[in-house]
Amino acid sequence: MMSNERIQNASPHALPSLPYAETALDPVISAKTIGFHYGKHHKGYVENLSKLVAGTEFADLPLERIITGTAGKADKTAIFNNAAQSWNHSFYWRSLKPKGGGEPRAALKQKIEASFGTLEACKKELAAAALTQFGSGWAWLVVDGEKLKVLKTGNADVPLTTGMKPLLTIDVWEHAYYLDYQNRRADYISAVLEKLLNWDFAAENLG
Ligand SMILES: [Fe+2]
Repeated sequence: MMSNERIQNASPHALPSLPYAETALDPVISAKTIGFHYGKHHKGYVENLSKLVAGTEFADLPLERIITGTAGKADKTAIFNNAAQSWNHSFYWRSLKPKGGGEPRAALKQKIEASFGTLEACKKELAAAALTQFGSGWAWLVVDGEKLKVLKTGNADVPLTTGMKPLLTIDVWEHAYYLDYQNRRADYISAVLEKLLNWDFAAENLG
């Protein structure tokens, strides 16, 4: 049984489990990359966040509320960065799956065609956003009002802060691909789009 002290010190911001084994995305993303990316980087953001919010008004809030409550506040940058990176990574793991890629189910596909013309055009835009994000960041497929949109964000930034609903994301920080692709970000992006992207997750997020 846990002591009261341990319960009080336990953070609600725990590292979520990966939705698959570390080897599951191999060879597109190797177990070695996932081991560092999930086991060191993602874990680091969660641990930093827990330390930063301990004893503050953010200690017991869900991640989304911490993110929207600290975005754009100069004195809360560290909390924002670690909260957003914790959220972004959990969302990224679920944006991928073994044997992903292919075609989205009908309702999502229609929505994509209404916004981009074709699925190919949507994927092309997503690839371009991921490739042209200068330095570290993220490419996103989001819902903005009635339309789907592709956008990119730098560092920890996440579309939640501007009221858009993310459907999928691709991490383009170097730590996401460097061990497997070195500087070939374009190869990582096209492999993710064709072989790992989890359209079922996007459809669930579309609601
Ligand atoms: Fe990452």
